[in-house]
Amino acid sequence: MTDRQRPIRERQSVSDDRTAPLDLGAFPPGFAWGTATSAYQIEGAVAEDGRGPSIWDTFAHTPGAVDNGHHGDTACDHYHRWPEDIALMKELGTDAYRLSVAWPRIVPDGDGPVNAAGLDFYDRLVDGLLEAGITPSVTLYHWDLPQALQDRAEDCRGGWTERATAEHLARYASVVAARLGDRVTQWATLNEPLCSAWIGHLEGRMAPGLTDLTAAVRASYHLLLGHGLATAAVRAEAPGARVGLVTNHSTVEPATTRPEDVAAAVRADGHTNRWWLDPVYGRGFPADLRELYGVELPERPGDEETIAAPLDWHGLNYYFPVTVADDPDGPVPHAREVRPPGLPRTGMDWPVDAGGLEAFLLRLTEEYGVRRLYVTENGSAFPDSVRPDGRVDDPDRTRYLEEHLAACARALRKGAPLAGYYAWSLLDNFEWAYGYDKRFGLVHVDYATQRRTVKASGRRYADLIRAHRAQAG
Ligand code: IFM
Repeated sequence: MTDRQRPIRERQSVSDDRTAPLDLGAFPPGFAWGTATSAYQIEGAVAEDGRGPSIWDTFAHTPGAVDNGHHGDTACDHYHRWPEDIALMKELGTDAYRLSVAWPRIVPDGDGPVNAAGLDFYDRLVDGLLEAGITPSVTLYHWDLPQALQDRAEDCRGGWTERATAEHLARYASVVAARLGDRVTQWATLNEPLCSAWIGHLEGRMAPGLTDLTAAVRASYHLLLGHGLATAAVRAEAPGARVGLVTNHSTVEPATTRPEDVAAAVRADGHTNRWWLDPVYGRGFPADLRELYGVELPERPGDEETIAAPLDWHGLNYYFPVTVADDPDGPVPHAREVRPPGLPRTGMDWPVDAGGLEAFLLRLTEEYGVRRLYVTENGSAFPDSVRPDGRVDDPDRTRYLEEHLAACARALRKGAPLAGYYAWSLLDNFEWAYGYDKRFGLVHVDYATQRRTVKASGRRYADLIRAHRAQAG
C-alpha cells in the first residue's frame, strides 16, 4: 500500500476521544475567535445602490433550482441591519469576523465601471467592525459572480470557463484593496473554489447550474488562476496585506479494504483535496486527475507560478468526512459516497466526525507545509425552534462546536500553526440550494420579523471565548 492509499487518520494518528474535556490551554494568546458569513447569504438588498445581478440571483430565481423557491432578495437584511449584527458579534465576545464582498456591488457588470455606493457600504461596515474591536477578514469571491460575465461566452460557456474572468477578478480585487486596504489586513481571494467548479459546473446543484466536465475543469483552472492574479493585485494595492485562500476539504476513506474501494478513495481524495492544494503549493495539477478528467487544461506559460504564489495563510473550511466505494459507471471521480456506520448526522445529513478536522489541519501542516492556518468555516445545521420563553436550545450544534474546538486543540498540541477559528455562521442564512430551512447560525433569525436570538450554542461559544481570554491573559 502506498502512503497515499493509507487512511488519512492512520497516517496522522488521529485520536477521537469524544469524552476528553476541551483543552483551552492549547489555544495560544491572541487566537482569533470569529464568526463567518458571506454576502449573498445575508445581505439582501439585491437591487439597491447600484448592485448588479449575480449568477446566484439568476439561479435562485430559476424554478426548481432552490428548495421552496427561496432566494437571497432579502436574506437577513444585513445590508440595512449590519450595526445590529456587529452588536451581536460583540455580545458573543468574538474579535474577528469573516465577511465577503459582493463583486456585483462593486463592479456591477463584472469588468466595467466601479459602483461607488457599493464600496461605501463595505467602508462603513469595516469601520463599524474596527470601532467594535473586531478584526475583519475579507473574502473577495464567495460565489456571487456578476451575471454579465456568465453571459459572455467566448471560448467556452462564459463565467469561470473563460480566462478573462480570472483577469476581471484581479481588477475587482485591486479596486476593493485600494479602498479598504488601509484598514483591512486579512484577505482571502476565493471561498471554496471546489464548490464553484464541481458543484456549479459539473453537478449543476449550484450557480451557474451546468453539468459539463470540460466546463468544470476549465472553471477550476481559471478559479485558481484568478486566485493567483488576485493575490498579486491585493498585494500591489495594500502592501501590508496578508493574503490567503479558503478551500473546503474532507478526509476521504474507503468503505472497505477492497483494492477497488481503496483506489476510489485515492481518486475522490484527489478530486476533493489534491486538485485544489497541489497547484497552489507548487506541485502542479495532479497527473492522475488530469488523466481521469481527460480535459485539456487551458495552460499558458507562467500560470503555474501565478497559481503557486506564496501565501500568508490558508483557510480550511471543514464540515464532514467522506467515505467512498468504487463506482466505475458513476460520474467522475467514479466513487460513490456511502454512509459510514456509527457516526451521528446533522440536519444536512452530513456525518459528524471532528477527527477529520484534526486530520486535515495536520495534513495542511505536514504535507503542504502551511505556516499559518485558520479554520475559516466550521459548523452544523440542525432544525431549531424558538421556545415560548424566547430561548433557542440547540444541544446538537453545541456538541458539534465543542467537539470541533477540541479537535483544533489536539491539532495545535501536535504542531498545527492554527491562528483562529471562525464559526459558520454568525446568523442563520440562505443556505444556497437548500434555501432558508437549513439553519447554521449561532444566532437564530426569524425571517418574517428579522428578529435575531442568540442560541444556546452562541452563548456556549461566548463562554469558551471568555474562559480562554481569562486563561491566556
Ligand atoms: O453555507 C455554506 C458556505 O457558504 C460555504 N461553506 C459551507 C457552508 C455550509 O454549507
